Amino acid sequence: MQTIFYNSGPVVHFGKALHSDIDEMVYTSQKAIIISNGSIDAIIDSQDAIDEYAIHAGECSNESVTVHDLGGNAVVPGLIDPHTHLLWDGDRSKEVAWRREGLSYADIAKRGGGIQHTVNATRSASNERLFELGYLRLRESLRTGTTHMEAKSGYGLSLEHELRLLEVADSLQTISHIPTLDLTWMGAHDVPKDSTKSEYVESLLSQQLPAVIEQGVARSADVFCEPGWFTLEDAEDILRASQDAGLATRMHIDEFADGGGGSLAAELGVTTADHAYHTPLSSRLEMRDANVLTGFLPGTPYAMGDPWPDMTLVGEHEIPFTLATDFNPNCRTLSLPFMCSLLVQRCNLHPIEALKAVTVTAAKSTPHPSGHRHGQLMAGAVANLNIVDGPHWEAVALRPTGSPFKATVLNGQFIAH
Ligand code: NIG
Ligand code: FE
Repeated sequence: MQTIFYNSGPVVHFGKALHSDIDEMVYTSQKAIIISNGSIDAIIDSQDAIDEYAIHAGECSNESVTVHDLGGNAVVPGLIDPHTHLLWDGDRSKEVAWRREGLSYADIAKRGGGIQHTVNATRSASNERLFELGYLRLRESLRTGTTHMEAKSGYGLSLEHELRLLEVADSLQTISHIPTLDLTWMGAHDVPKDSTKSEYVESLLSQQLPAVIEQGVARSADVFCEPGWFTLEDAEDILRASQDAGLATRMHIDEFADGGGGSLAAELGVTTADHAYHTPLSSRLEMRDANVLTGFLPGTPYAMGDPWPDMTLVGEHEIPFTLATDFNPNCRTLSLPFMCSLLVQRCNLHPIEALKAVTVTAAKSTPHPSGHRHGQLMAGAVANLNIVDGPHWEAVALRPTGSPFKATVLNGQFIAH
């Protein structure tokens, strides 16, 4: 059984050019994408596919081949969201009024809002409720072209509840037609009310981490390394222990102030250090030289009314970065096209930079569970792609509301929007 998408407009491959050694950023036009068993077999000239497969008036005489006329619409890879807090319950809409009164994120946490508020609501939610929320969120993200997502625990903050969040997230993977997940344990998101920080860090190391390893569904560990939350020393202890136990590592750094997390990220060789708004250039360069990705999460300053990070720095120094939604109770969007729009229409980056950050670079942050390439359109990659509603791929970054896509192909399956 083969599926052929022919008569494309521009195709952004981010893969090896079809007939050359050029590495990346290839646009071609008038192509046909040939798919079987959930992966891309070949990308050939559309006319060659029409001739070879005898396609006439949108039909193929060979019954084992399904054909779709792309009608000149552009095609981009399936989008990859490399940083989300997918599972939590509750509502923190009240906090906006507190922010208007001048309370900071830390003040709101002290007043019983913030992460702790969400922890209480999440602990009270049943597994069925969390599963339903996760399913609806994944479906919502698919409508704006997400085909794969990293998802963190971190609103449980106890052995029982962190394991439960990971288990529910893992069980979502039994459903087809929703994005695939890459799970991260983030017990070190905050300190629960009933512990001191040192007691909690000790329990992360002696109880949660071994149990997470035994459970076997999380691929990575993440720590909120920020002045007022987990210190550099805490983060180093937790991340080194996680690495020793076989997990990949990630960090939240410098969201509100420079806490030195960039240098630690470089020293530990974590996969990615995210937020990084207040990270000094010297630490950014250390991260770049240690192959640590920077994860930009512009939804957070958007939601909080904070200033934009200076993205010119990133371009000047060729710092590899990803772009993610950071979906969480404070930043309630699952739309990567909206993130692309923030980067292009508010931070002056080129649309190709935004698209790269949510596809081929994001794939380095969160690999596909099949072990095959994704975020690229080339032979051998997972057949995850988006059909743009129009002939210009740049639309991905120019439609902050709604979806720029007519359809998404997920693991070879055509899903109309
Ligand atoms: O990545 N900053 C830490 N964690 C989340 C937000 C947590 C929350 O406010 O619930 C983030 O932005
Ligand atoms: Fe986050």
